[in-house]
Amino acid sequence: MNSKAGRFGALQVLTGNANRPLAASIAESVGVPLTSCEVGRYPDGEIEVKLDDDVRGNDVFVVQPTCRPVNENLMELLLILDTLRRASAARITAVMPYFGYARKDRKDEGRVPISAKLVTDVIQAAGANRVLALELHAAQIQGFFDVVVDHLFAAPIFVRHFEKKDLLDPVIVAPDVGGIKIARAYAKRLNGGLAIVDKRRVSPNEAEAMHLIGEVKDRDVILMDDMIATAGTMTEAARVVKEHGCRRAFLAATHGVFAGKAVERISGANVDEIVVTDTIPNPAEVRDMVHVLSSGPLLGEAILRIHESQSV
Ligand code: R5P
Repeated sequence: MNSKAGRFGALQVLTGNANRPLAASIAESVGVPLTSCEVGRYPDGEIEVKLDDDVRGNDVFVVQPTCRPVNENLMELLLILDTLRRASAARITAVMPYFGYARKDRKDEGRVPISAKLVTDVIQAAGANRVLALELHAAQIQGFFDVVVDHLFAAPIFVRHFEKKDLLDPVIVAPDVGGIKIARAYAKRLNGGLAIVDKRRVSPNEAEAMHLIGEVKDRDVILMDDMIATAGTMTEAARVVKEHGCRRAFLAATHGVFAGKAVERISGANVDEIVVTDTIPNPAEVRDMVHVLSSGPLLGEAILRIHESQSV
């Protein structure tokens, strides 16, 4: 049995297939072996789950980002949660380093779903007693859950990375107005300035940077966002800061979704570094273009704190 007993029994970490290397890194940082759970497919494609270890009376953390293939990974998570509930785990925490379906978090036009709300509902219904998330696309998604959500920011990971860069008169740039709060937090921590790109979304796949508010000339720029999806937002913002004469341009995003035209866009981008965390496994085509930082220790630390009823 894995040790580290707390109020809810022993701490256990297990995973589906979404991001096994990240789950292994979290388990290592927590100091427990991964609990064995087979997540396979029946011949017709339905998901088959079998727990090999006992979880009865224990504090179980399921690591499963709902990244691509989104529906497969979400369904795996739901079935694992159901398995744990029926196997009498004392407390079940869904650890979602990346929360898919987050972008549809409101009814912004007629006849559309609020996908993020539906997803939170099914995760709870399947058995999650608690959620640990990293950099949700919109912080208010916490309120879609009735269970406790611990919402982490990736700042400690990126600040440590950029502190080693010997930045010259740094300026943190929000690539759109939605990113101002995050950019301001980084600017404070990195002792830098703040600038904002005024972005217009032409379509779900196309963004157009309009204006730059702030000063970047001859300064090192960090463009900071929660995710790079089709990379339209970041590469357009990078173009604008380069046009305004910045010294170096770093693109930093917590989640490397890399969908649609992302590979083409980032390979053509005139930037000094693209850095993401490992919440999502990177597609092979981007591996040489992207620097990846580990989120395992941050998530592992949070899991230990939750287990020991300390503040997160
Ligand atoms: C927007 O609200 C987000 O923070 C990201 O800027 C956006 O989702 C990135 O999308 P894309 O990479 O497709 O431009």
